[in-house]
Amino acid sequence: GVSKPCVHSLSTLLDTPTLSVHLVDVKSETTAHLLLHSLCWSSSSCKVLLHFVNQSGMKTSVSAMEGESLLEVVINKNLQIDGFGACEGTLACSTCHLIFEDGVYEKMEPMADEEMDMLDLAYGLTKLSRLGCQVTVERWMDGMTVRVPQEVKDRREKPEAEI
Ligand code: FES
Repeated sequence: GVSKPCVHSLSTLLDTPTLSVHLVDVKSETTAHLLLHSLCWSSSSCKVLLHFVNQSGMKTSVSAMEGESLLEVVINKNLQIDGFGACEGTLACSTCHLIFEDGVYEKMEPMADEEMDMLDLAYGLTKLSRLGCQVTVERWMDGMTVRVPQEVKDRREKPEAEI
């Protein structure tokens, strides 16, 4: 499909304090729109809406920057996910394990062998699992939901791997 623009209107843009400083001299709305586009398309300014569901099933929605890893999003937005990202993205822990939606998972960049090896050790592995520190936010991910594997209270329950 066609990508959505990440800032929806000029007024939204002008409401953003840091951006309005740069746009204060812009007289024509057309010029402002062109500026808006160049801001949006230059990678670091594009916001992507993401939903995280933590171990307890609590959903938090955040706006992430294109190009950040999902681990960086969790840290920067101070999301309450117990023990997430213990190795700080050095592919040594698998605590950044996240479960993706079907349509999203298959569109993501393929995994490197190192990620695959570490992911194998992750608790509650599913066929839609990835390591959050290895996944980079892209604009097409706007609106996606990622889940942290749920805590299993009773070990006799079915593991998530059977989903
Ligand atoms: S944070 Fe440790 S493997 Fe991703």
